[in-house]
Amino acid sequence: MLDYGGINVEKLIITGPTPLKGEVNISGAKNAAVAILPATLLINGFCRIENLPNISDVKLYCQILELLGAKVTWHTPNDITVDTTNINNKADIYEITRKFRASYYLIGALLGRCGEVQVGLPGGCNLGARPIDLHIKGFEALGATTSIIQGNIKAVANKLVGTSIYLDIASVGATINIMLASVLAEGTTIIDNAAKEPHIVDVANFLNTMGADIRGAGTDVIKIHGVKELKGNSSYSIVPDQIEAGTFMLAAIATRGDIVIKNCITKHLESVTAKIIEIGGNVDANGDKLRVWYDKRPSKATIKTLPYPGFPTDLQPQMGVVLSTADGTSIINEGIWESRFQYTNELNKMGARITAQGKSAFFEGVDFLVGAPVYVTDLRAGAALIIAGISAEGVTEVYNLEHIDRGYENIEEKFRKIGANIKRVVE
Ligand code: UD1
Repeated sequence: MLDYGGINVEKLIITGPTPLKGEVNISGAKNAAVAILPATLLINGFCRIENLPNISDVKLYCQILELLGAKVTWHTPNDITVDTTNINNKADIYEITRKFRASYYLIGALLGRCGEVQVGLPGGCNLGARPIDLHIKGFEALGATTSIIQGNIKAVANKLVGTSIYLDIASVGATINIMLASVLAEGTTIIDNAAKEPHIVDVANFLNTMGADIRGAGTDVIKIHGVKELKGNSSYSIVPDQIEAGTFMLAAIATRGDIVIKNCITKHLESVTAKIIEIGGNVDANGDKLRVWYDKRPSKATIKTLPYPGFPTDLQPQMGVVLSTADGTSIINEGIWESRFQYTNELNKMGARITAQGKSAFFEGVDFLVGAPVYVTDLRAGAALIIAGISAEGVTEVYNLEHIDRGYENIEEKFRKIGANIKRVVE
């Protein structure tokens, strides 16, 4: 039993190996939800959000909205109404906003709605340096002044005026944040070299449903024609989670299983589908369902993570588990984050042979993984270690579950329903 000074420690106990079999339902997208919730602050009225994932990042965001004066009504754990008629942008949200990365969207949203905002500099998964210089460049181009004060970032604008903004890097966060800041700005904002991830389209669709005029989301040029007000008074259903669906696709291959993934947008998963087929696996797309299956050892592969529509960095660790037992030596080049191979140390404890050097890792495929105690270092690493535990011989104990709970709804229940021997216990 671990002694953390009286604090209860939760862990997952997984006994494997189990080939996963059955059907799994995909929840709403975490990365869309954590942008749409702050986007509600732009509405002078209320809106209903459906298909909201029941995860800790969403609950935290709802708490922040309430601190800011919004009224959040829960109809079910996946369906809320947010009334943002009265907003107090001076509320003390400094500490709470430091807890996660996506709090940066409050800057764009509150700047757009109130012309002034101060939040804690964003925290979140430790994947290396995570600057927000491109966000700031965008706000300043729109007419805001920004400053850093005692670990907080402050942005102020008398008036935001649309302009052309070129992003040096196709940043997901900067694209969405500039979109949020410019929805109510005067004139037209053009974001060039915008990121194209599915949740960017989802945020634009949400804002347009509430009365905004955004065109081109999903391409690399987004045009936002400023409107006077977002009236809201509508409901919106969040897009299915591309990364959760990809996690289950890779779990099917890693465990030599056969899974039907329901309620997903198969187009969002084309890069993953292509790689699974390349290493020998089978994928059958049918409407909003994907069947993924393979009962043999996959072949080796070379993968580079890239912005959408490339192979997502958020599925890199899960793919790393698949390649740990592939036939031959595989290479993953991480194209987005500096330090996204921390999970490989944990997989090596389970018998994997992975050498990580900077932004590349070499996976010398072994016959099988063996259960061990492992520690989650970030959200997607957590999903990867669960998959590893299900595919490994013997018992795996997974610690630091708070990372996983940030972004996956009922993860162990979903895995249990498709056959995994997995339980959460308190030590
Ligand atoms: C979002 C996702 C995250 C995913 C990532 C890449 C959310 C809440 N998180 O993170 O899960 O891994 O996209 O798909 O949606 N950069 C700068 N300056 C900036 C902004 C970014 O240099 O101002 C760099 C980053 O260091 C990184 C790259 O641009 O190397 C991409 O980052 P970005 O797309 O902004 O990621 P996030 O929005 O933080």
